[in-house]
This record gives sequence, C-alpha cells and structure tokens, in this order.
Amino acid sequence: MDNFSFIKCPCCYGGEHFRDNLQICKQEDFFICLECGVMGDTNKLILLESKAPLQNFKANQAAQQVFLKQKSDKFYSYINHRGLNEERIKRFCLSYASNDKNLLSLAKENKMLFELFENNHLINARNPDNVYETFRGRLMFPIKNHIGLIAGFGGRTLNDEATPKYLNSQQSATFNKSEILYGLYENKPYIQEKDEAYVFEGYMDVVSCASKGVNNCVATMGIAISKKQLFNLSRVTNNATFIYDGDTAGRKAMRSALMSVIAHHPSPASTCYSFLPEGVDPDDLVKTSPGLFLHTVDKNKITFHEFLSIIFEENLASGISNEETNTLLEKELKKNQYIKAKANLISILCDREYKDRKHNITIENDDNNELIHRIGG
Ligand code: UTP
Ligand code: MN
Repeated sequence: MDNFSFIKCPCCYGGEHFRDNLQICKQEDFFICLECGVMGDTNKLILLESKAPLQNFKANQAAQQVFLKQKSDKFYSYINHRGLNEERIKRFCLSYASNDKNLLSLAKENKMLFELFENNHLINARNPDNVYETFRGRLMFPIKNHIGLIAGFGGRTLNDEATPKYLNSQQSATFNKSEILYGLYENKPYIQEKDEAYVFEGYMDVVSCASKGVNNCVATMGIAISKKQLFNLSRVTNNATFIYDGDTAGRKAMRSALMSVIAHHPSPASTCYSFLPEGVDPDDLVKTSPGLFLHTVDKNKITFHEFLSIIFEENLASGISNEETNTLLEKELKKNQYIKAKANLISILCDREYKDRKHNITIENDDNNELIHRIGG
C-alpha cells in the first residue's frame, strides 16, 4: 500500500467534493481521480496542478543553480548574523544573488533561457541598452509551490537601510503569491506528523523557526490567506494556528484570515488564532528560545469561536450590526450546521450580554441553557 497515496484532485477543486479522491500510484507513475475520472502520469499531474508550462519552472531551477554557486562570505556572515543554523535550514535551499551578472552570462548563450528568465522577471530587458538582473546583493528564498517546483523567489536585502527589504518575484505564469504558502512543501512531513501548522506572515519566520527545531510552520508572505492557500494547507492538516503581530496591522490581518477561513476552510472550528505582543515576531521569540515561542503562542491562543465572539463584541461596541457577519456566516457555513448553530449562539449571547451590561442586568445561567437548548448547540 506504500506505493499508493491519495490527494485532493485539482480538477474537482472548488467543487462539492472536498476529499482526497485522487489516487496516485508512484510505482506505475500513474494517477486517477475516483471522483471525476481524470488520469495520467506525473507530468500531467504537475501541469494540472500548476497551470504553467514546465519549462518556466525549469528556468527558475536554472537560476537557483546559479544563486547556489554564488553563496559567498556575505551570504554566510548574514545567516550567522540572523542566528540561522545552516544544517537545520538546508531544506529551504537559501542562496545568494550577487552583483556578478552570472544569470545574464548564462542567458546570453541561450535565447530561450533568456526569454524564460525575462518571463519569470529574473531579468529585465525592457530597455535593450540597460538589461539587468532583478535580484542583486540579496539573500534568496526560493519559493516552492506545494508540489516542490520553484515558482518564484523572495530576496532579502543584507543591508537594512536598503529598500525594499524584501523583493519578490512579480506575478507570472509560475508565480502567484496568493496561491502559495511558503514552507508548505519543505515542512509538509513535520506538519503531517504534528497534525498542526503554524501560519505566519513572513518567510524569515518559517526559516528561523526551523533553525531552532520548530518545523511545522508556513507563511502567507505578507498577504491575507487565500482560498487556494487554505485548500493546499488543508490537504496536509486542518489544524491551523494563525500567528500574527498584535499591532493594528496584525489584528487586521487576523480578521482577514478568519473571514477567509469562514468562507473557504473545510473545518473552521479546527483553526486557532494567536496574537503576539506588539512589535514581536516569531523569529524574535524563537531566537530567544523555542520554549518561549511555544509558550507565548499557547498563552495567547484563542479558538475559532472565541475569535468570532470577540468580533461580534467589537462590532457591537463600535455600533456595527452583527447582522452582516451573521448573514456571511449563514451563507458560508450552511454546509456545517454545528458551526452555524454555535456562531448564532455566540452572537445572541454577545448581543444579550451587551444589552444587559448597558442595563446592569446579569443573565441568569438558566437563560443561557434555555437558549442553548433552543438553538441545539
Ligand atoms: P516583515 O516586514 O514582517 O519582515 O514582512 P520579517 O518577516 O520580520 O523579516 P525580517 O525579520 O525583517 O527579515 C513579512 C512578509 O511580508 C512580505 C514578505 O513576504 C515578508 O516575508 N514583505 C515585507 C514584502 O514582500 N516586501 C517587503 O518589503 C516587506
Ligand atoms: Mn522579523
């Protein structure tokens, strides 16, 4: 049975059947979806899943080979400065973009490669008199999609004064930032083993955690988590804990994450939310000690329903009706009666508590029980 594995089918994706119904037989290099019947070999599966020509990915791989050869003293002193243990972060294949124009030299020998580098925004040739490489003097994070192909790159400046701090590949046939969760491919076995994933905003946080032995992490790369990202994550685990900064931007990002979970996660109640102290990120904590990181995450962790109740309360406190949130919940959660009932209950309790607080009346426990009974929670 080891030769068989099941994943969710890219052709059924978005449909009713949110199950692992695509069977892969590695030995025979063959797959078949038991739901829709699509079948083929590994290359066909890659194309179905990525929707981009394989040669574009191969060009990124060629660039990565160049970046790997360029790892110099600057690269090693920077990763030492960040406290990264090279052995533990080997699977992320960090590399270095120098100023040596090696990509350009390689591409000049091969017209097709030049065009592919251009399509993948590794080379800018808009002005023929000034053709240059996009990434120069940066620590490179190859960004792999969930099947392990390099879809794009993130490059961090080694000099904190320079902007932008992180330069990412632009949107291209291979790279769609909102579809990829950084680290999902590299950390998949660890996430599977723990049956839990920590979701961060930054890819440095993922690498830094791995360097300290916290391996079940992924990053959304600074944007709200999307339907596709949740879909890919839920192939590995439903237990996602979102870990964001406790500042205004972090709280906003967390609300967006919750809304995306409500709309797209197959099991919203399996998700948790942990706000870190303002201005502190997972890298800061884990560098001090992995224990401190784990303790802080746990201490500040709230469940899906607790987060919902906070949102209902915040809405009420700022005079926003909960009707809109409830309508969204009704719409999105109609598949899941349990969550709907519980969310309604929380909303009603919050409404009552708020009104009662205004009138200085406390709710009797019996009242709550009656309410729970009526809603069936
Ligand atoms: P942060 O600004 O929180 O960076 O960006 P960080 O993760 O703490 O990185 P270090 O510790 O300073 O090295 C979080 C994420 O937002 C995106 C990147 O995906 C980054 O991982 N970002 C940030 C950009 O795309 N561009 C930027 O200039 C900054
Ligand atoms: Mn940081």
